Amino acid sequence: MCGIFGYIGKRSDATDIVFKGIKTLEYRGYDSWGVGIIPNAPTSSRKAGLRGATTKGIVVEKQIGKIGDAKLHNPPASSLAIAHTRWATHGGITQANAHPHLDCTGNIAVIHNGIIENYDTLKKQLSNKHTYVSETDSEVAVHMIEEKMKALPFSEAVRQTFLACTGSNALVAINAHSDEIVAIRNGSPLVVGYGDNEQFIGSDAAGLLPYTKTVHFLEDNEMAILTKEKISIKDVQTNREKCVVPKTLDQTMQTVSKNGFATFMEKELNEQPDIIHKISLERAHSEKLTEAIHKARGTYLIGCGSAYYACLAGTYLFSTIAKRHINATVASEFTFQEDFINEKSLVIALSQSGETMDIIDAVKRAKTKGATIASIVNVEGSTLWRISDLPIPCGAGPEVSVASTKDLIAKLSHLIALSYGLAGMQNEGSIVLKKAALETRRVIFNKKRIVYLATQFIKKEHIFIVGRGLSYPATLEIAMKIKEISYIHAEGMAAGELKHGTLALVEKETPCIVLAPNDETYGANIAAAMELRARGAIIIGISHTHNAVFDHYIEVADCGPASIIPTIVVGQFLALAIATKKGLDPDKPRNLAKSVTVK
Ligand code: F6R
Repeated sequence: MCGIFGYIGKRSDATDIVFKGIKTLEYRGYDSWGVGIIPNAPTSSRKAGLRGATTKGIVVEKQIGKIGDAKLHNPPASSLAIAHTRWATHGGITQANAHPHLDCTGNIAVIHNGIIENYDTLKKQLSNKHTYVSETDSEVAVHMIEEKMKALPFSEAVRQTFLACTGSNALVAINAHSDEIVAIRNGSPLVVGYGDNEQFIGSDAAGLLPYTKTVHFLEDNEMAILTKEKISIKDVQTNREKCVVPKTLDQTMQTVSKNGFATFMEKELNEQPDIIHKISLERAHSEKLTEAIHKARGTYLIGCGSAYYACLAGTYLFSTIAKRHINATVASEFTFQEDFINEKSLVIALSQSGETMDIIDAVKRAKTKGATIASIVNVEGSTLWRISDLPIPCGAGPEVSVASTKDLIAKLSHLIALSYGLAGMQNEGSIVLKKAALETRRVIFNKKRIVYLATQFIKKEHIFIVGRGLSYPATLEIAMKIKEISYIHAEGMAAGELKHGTLALVEKETPCIVLAPNDETYGANIAAAMELRARGAIIIGISHTHNAVFDHYIEVADCGPASIIPTIVVGQFLALAIATKKGLDPDKPRNLAKSVTVK
């Protein structure tokens, strides 16, 4: 979480470059943002000043909230600037806590992603000599650099500061008296971009793409020193220079426009039919995974949030279609269930960003036990992608909206294809996915009914979603979408569990969504709907057929096991419509970030 961007080079609009850079990284956090600039013509420009600027060597502007349409105030000409977009961990959402943080002299600035776990101890060691103006863990780093610079050159002071910090961190520092950017990573992602007499650094490659396709993804414990002319990479432990071969990104520049839609979420929901169809035509990916599963003794699916729900769906798909057992665990809990992982195990990690710390951590631990790591990852070149033995591209295309939608649908499509592939029925898999793509298109075309239903929900405090079998993970996913973008409490559960407690919360006019696809769970789901209705609930049925127990009905045609896809799509549009009617921004839900790079 938190987005980092930096520029050093021949141009004199570094501020604009880094400001645009953090706009592309805003998905990583949008509690506050800030830029740190070393002006080219210090005296005159600094007198003109930016709002919130210091009168020292580094000019800083910070603001609370999303970058949105914010503008910088009188940025001075500059060839060296850094910028940051924050997702708050330590310290509230205030201007003082926004990055960059300055040292006492105003000549050193630091931006940071991660958590300095021992910041309190470090702060106590320095506090009698330095004045702290924020409540963040990050600020300790800049004062420590200041302290160490009494005896050391800048880059060495940054290196030693980083070594003193514990936790997973990415640190970027600048100093008004040296023409360089010093960056170090351990855990949190950083990528450097090589240009012609100009160099770039960012939290991900997407922000660099407008300027360069030649990049190096910093490995853990690598330090980069960027000057106008070159980038040196060093091992942070030994301080020895490393020879790295930069990569050329093959991604064509992806536009991040909304394509005429009001929000990224709406645009991304509309892309889903094509994504499902494309996956229905692929064979190679499921063949590679099938081979790895056949070789393994014990396969484990891991993921977080929506990606975990895809893992859970995988267990049902593997069981019903491939007649195989597969384990599914929330990645952050995998550590407590990993005792039987060994060199014969296969871990399949599912992730959109490929940067989720809980997943990276679980994968690294499994690797130390000798397990083979496969992954289905949307962001190619991400950390998970690079540490996997068998990375499979998810193929959803850039997902900007914070809530995962098209990536989740793409993952489910891959898992359906894989389950049929394992059963030796690739053609059948392709057929149900094509049906699901068509049905998803139809659901989207007829979304008016869903939008109408949303009006019934905007004032509700709770919404329950129930289903059985493969519909159970769908209930969890629909609940997640409603919660995160409409801020209504929504709970998904296995229909059979209702009467074991949650039914106590159901009262007159509580909306309850019942998923009743045309499979062996249909009768039991209708029975659950009856029980809910007997307690006064309003029943919204999502099914292939209209049952009399439904007060409202949304049709999802039978696509076999792939019915889970259009069913979830109905839930996505419902969540979007509720959020829109409540006047909320579905692309940037409060308190969340797209890439969860802290534990
Ligand atoms: C929900 C959502 C999150 C992510 C989770 C994992 O809409 O977006 O629950 O699914 O944070 O993120 P990735 O897939 O990037 O590992």
